[in-house]
Amino acid sequence: MDPFPWYETMRETKPVRYDERRECWDLFRYEDVKRTLSDYETFTSTGASDFDPNGNLGTLLIDEDPPEHDRLRGVVEEYFRPGNLRGLRPSIRSIVDDRLDQALEDGNEIDAISELTAPVTISTISRLLGVPEDDWDLVRQWSSTMISDESGRDAIMEGIGKMYEYFSGLLEDRRRNPESDLISVIAGSESVGEPTLSPSEQRAFCVFLFLAGHSTTTHAVGNALWTLEETGEYERLRDGELDWQMMFNEVLRYRGPVQSISGRRTTEVVELNGTEIPKGERVVSWIGSANRDPAVFDDPEEFYPTRTPNRHIAFGFGPHYCLGAPLAKLEGDVILDAVTDHVERLEVDEGPSESVELATSYGFDRLPMTFHPRS
Ligand code: HEM
Repeated sequence: MDPFPWYETMRETKPVRYDERRECWDLFRYEDVKRTLSDYETFTSTGASDFDPNGNLGTLLIDEDPPEHDRLRGVVEEYFRPGNLRGLRPSIRSIVDDRLDQALEDGNEIDAISELTAPVTISTISRLLGVPEDDWDLVRQWSSTMISDESGRDAIMEGIGKMYEYFSGLLEDRRRNPESDLISVIAGSESVGEPTLSPSEQRAFCVFLFLAGHSTTTHAVGNALWTLEETGEYERLRDGELDWQMMFNEVLRYRGPVQSISGRRTTEVVELNGTEIPKGERVVSWIGSANRDPAVFDDPEEFYPTRTPNRHIAFGFGPHYCLGAPLAKLEGDVILDAVTDHVERLEVDEGPSESVELATSYGFDRLPMTFHPRS
C-alpha cells in the first residue's frame, strides 16, 4: 500500500485520531510528532516500546526515559561518533566492491537488497560489535527469525534465546580479553568501580544494537536506489552534480525506512490540535507523514535531491534520536559511492511498489535491478 495519500487526508481531516482496532492514538502532523518524541514527561517511553512489546529483551535504552535512558546510552554514545566510525570506511568499501564485482560478472542482474544492501549492513554492524566473521551468517539467521513478520512466538523466543546465549559468551570473553570493538566497550562498562550496566543489560544491549543496526539501513539504501532510478536523478549523482548527503537526507524524508514509532504512552491528559488524549494511552507518531507536512516542507510530495533546509525527522527527535545515524549515513555514502564508480546506468526490473507495506518498516525484501557497468 502507498501510505502517502492516506497521510495527506489524515493530516488535513483527523490529525489526532483514536483507532479502536489498534487501541492507540495516531498523530500525523510534524509539530505534534516532534513534541511526542521529545516531551518525555508527557509521552513516556518507559515500558511503551514497539520494538520489544512483551519485554522479552530486558532493559533497553529505547524503553527508558532520562535520566535512566542517559545512563544506558552514555555507555556507547562515544563509539558512534562520526570520527570514530570513519575507520570503518575501507572495510565497508571492500565488501561493497566484492558484491558489485560478483553481480556484474554474473550478468549485471542483482537483487539490490539480498545481494548488496543487506549483506553490507549486516557485516558492518557485526564487525563494529566484534562478532567474528565465521559467525556472521549464524547471527544473521537468528536475527531474521526474530524480526520476520512470519515467525511465530516460539520461533522468536528461540531466536532471542540463541542470540542471548551467543552474546553472553562473547561478553564473557571480552571481559577477560578486551579488544577495540563495541562488545568490549559494553563488557567493560561493568568494571569501572560501580557497574554501569548489569550483565543482563549488556546482553540486551548487544542484541538490540545488532537488530537496530541493519534492517533500517538496508531499506534506506534500497529506497535511495529505487528513488534515484525512478526520478532519473542517478546520472546527476554519478556525474558528481549532486551532494550525496543532501540527496540521502531527501530520500529519508521522502521514503524513510521507519514510517511510524509507537513506543510512547501518555502520562497525563494532554490536548493536541484541539483533541484530548486521556492518560495512559498508547500514541503512534507517523514520522513518514510528518516528513511530508506542507506546514514545514515546500512541495512535500516532490523529491528534491537538493532540498534546503531539510528538517526531516526520519531519525527521530529528542532523547531517542537515532544513535546509529552517523553509521547509517556512512554506509549509505560508501555503498552509493561504490555503485556510482562501477555502474553507468541502473534499472529497476520489477515494480517495487507491490512489496511496500504500510508498517513501521518501509522498504523492500527484494529489489531486482540491472546494473549496466561503466566501461
Ligand atoms: C537509515 C537508517 C536508520 C533510521 C531511519 C533509523 C531510525 C531511528 C529512529 C526513528 C529512532 C528513534 C526511535 C524512537 O524515538 O523511539 C532510532 C533509534 C535508534 N537507532 Fe536508528 N535508524 C537507522 C539506523 C540505525 C543504525 C545503523 C543503528 C546502529 C546500531 C541504529 C541504532 C539505533 C538505536 C540504538 C536507537 C535508540 C536510541 C535511543 O533510544 O537513545 N539505528 N532510529
